Amino acid sequence: MQRYFDNAATSFPKPNEVLDAMQSYHLHCGASPGRGAYSQAIDATDMLDSCRELLCELVNATSTKHCIFTLNCTDALNLAIAGISSPHTAKGEPVHIITTAMDHNSVLRPLHYFLSNNVTHTIVQADSSGIICPSDIQKAITKHTRLIAVAHGSNVTGTVQDVESIGLVCGDIPFLVDAAQTMGHTPIDVQTMRIDLLAFPGHKGLLGPLGTGGLIMKPGMEKIIAPLRTGGTGSESEHPVQPETLPDKYEPGSHNMVGIAGLVASVRWILEMGVDNLHKKENQLTAQFIREIRNIEGVRIAGPQTIDNRRGVFSLVLDGCPHLAAKELESTFAICSRSGLHCAPFAHQTIGTHKLGGTLRVSFGPFHTAKDISYLTQAIAHCAQLCYA
Ligand SMILES: Cc1ncc(COP(=O)(O)O)c(C=O)c1O
Repeated sequence: MQRYFDNAATSFPKPNEVLDAMQSYHLHCGASPGRGAYSQAIDATDMLDSCRELLCELVNATSTKHCIFTLNCTDALNLAIAGISSPHTAKGEPVHIITTAMDHNSVLRPLHYFLSNNVTHTIVQADSSGIICPSDIQKAITKHTRLIAVAHGSNVTGTVQDVESIGLVCGDIPFLVDAAQTMGHTPIDVQTMRIDLLAFPGHKGLLGPLGTGGLIMKPGMEKIIAPLRTGGTGSESEHPVQPETLPDKYEPGSHNMVGIAGLVASVRWILEMGVDNLHKKENQLTAQFIREIRNIEGVRIAGPQTIDNRRGVFSLVLDGCPHLAAKELESTFAICSRSGLHCAPFAHQTIGTHKLGGTLRVSFGPFHTAKDISYLTQAIAHCAQLCYA
């Protein structure tokens, strides 16, 4: 029985292949890639290269050297936001960035950090289900807009945006998609969706280890994005400046190779299962959860009420305190859930739960079964009766 329902934070459990690959890296390789000519260092370089290839295959990206590894999705978003803004602000040029009310603090805080520095932003509002209208994004564009950043999936309501239609209205302005809640769960094609920058975590839907993530850039983006960090790359060591070659430009320092070893195995696992199949299975669990929750008094689902435009991340609005419900779920049913604002305060203003202290959130993963969902809904029914009847 799977009682972990916090996959929106990080996925658990991981496929066994991920654990085996991480152990095998430490037992048989252990070297840093791109730094030595001995066979273990070459094996590490091959592993890093194959991770880029698998990730590009997953999202139909054309250039593996434009797949940049980061610490997590937050780090990838910082690279995109700071990297695009800083060359302009260094010259005193105004920068305007568009984002949405459904975005995470991993976008909102980097923007806020830059606000005093010639950077302004517009937060495009969503409807009460969390859906953003592409034409509202189009209307927000000014002559100084340098970036449009949109969360593909909301970590609060599970709302999935129509990024293909949003990509159409972005024109030549770089389009940054935060795929923290969709990578590995929902099919993504960076070409048909016209995504210029795809930020993703390795440790959520991709089922890799914590400490992994990346930014997949459309070729050409490297000309307008400054690196966030500089340092040793094992290449062009005679020069004091950061190399312009990719991916070295954005990947100074030693890589998290044990994480990458796990990520290679997890992305292989996802490609073998097929994102379409994983998506279908999650849709079935999502539909079951919606059906069962509808029959419980004192509990309401925020966001989309059907499987359309959503995935298996749910905010529940209770007649009582969400924190007490999360506590009760754990102490009586050993269920891991989350309560609060989930690092996305404007999303709660959108769904009207900011003043309630947020919501109770449950989020599904690929190892959940129909039985797990029923166990969860019965537990939620118990909490609703116990605390709020
Ligand atoms: C929508 C969204 N964006 C960004 C992030 C940040 O991801 P990470 O934890 O990999 O930094 C999260 C994490 O929950 C998220 O839900």
